[in-house]
Amino acid sequence: MKQEELQAIAAQLKHPTGEKGIEMANMMHETNINMTHHSIQNLNVSKENKILELGHGNAGHLEFLMDQAESLVYYGLEMSELMFQEARQINRNYVSQKQAFFLLYDGGVIPATDAFFDKIFTVNTIYFWQKPEELLLEIYRVLKPNGTFCLTFAEESFMKQLPFTEYEFTLYSTEKAQELIEKTAFKMVYKETLTEKIKSKTGELVDRAFTTIVLEK
Ligand SMILES: C[S@@+](CC[C@H](N)C(=O)[O-])C[C@H]1O[C@@H](n2cnc3c(N)ncnc32)[C@H](O)[C@@H]1O
Repeated sequence: MKQEELQAIAAQLKHPTGEKGIEMANMMHETNINMTHHSIQNLNVSKENKILELGHGNAGHLEFLMDQAESLVYYGLEMSELMFQEARQINRNYVSQKQAFFLLYDGGVIPATDAFFDKIFTVNTIYFWQKPEELLLEIYRVLKPNGTFCLTFAEESFMKQLPFTEYEFTLYSTEKAQELIEKTAFKMVYKETLTEKIKSKTGELVDRAFTTIVLEK
């Protein structure tokens, strides 16, 4: 693949736009659903929880989340206007029932008051955080005391084999992510690395290692 094509893939993964962006979001949803479910299951949600997700893509996983407990309220934050629109459309029933709220933000300041959310999660976004420490502090600020934050990402050892990750991406191993977390007041309560089979761009199955780190305020 040419350098421009690899750069275009990286740019779409970071910020889906245009017709290609919708295709990319569908592909991400399919490829990453196991990671997303793992993050959600580690949140241990309970009745009436307010849940925030950063970087939901097309949010095709919302029904799975909503089935975890009764009367949940979901808030989804995105930087991509296309993903914001797509997620609202796919989840229009939850939106009209005021069970789901989608918002655009600048990737830095979370538009919420202190200690607003019971649970927060994010999947496959840490690679694109402009100011990782500051965003973690924002997540800490908007989480309730004893609230849970699940950070899910594919391991650097896997990601660095993909030709497009040399553009736009900052890769993390579990150790690197932990070093970042240690700069904040988050308590680490659990971490798990799993390996799953996913389809590569050329169609063959490859092993992907991914990690969920469970943090508490
Ligand atoms: C690789 S996609 C992952 C989408 C989905 N979470 C998944 O795992 O399939 C990254 C998504 O995060 C969004 N994004 C990038 N930087 C972000 C940030 N700082 N905060 C929130 N979302 C971000 C992008 O717009 C994109 O939709």
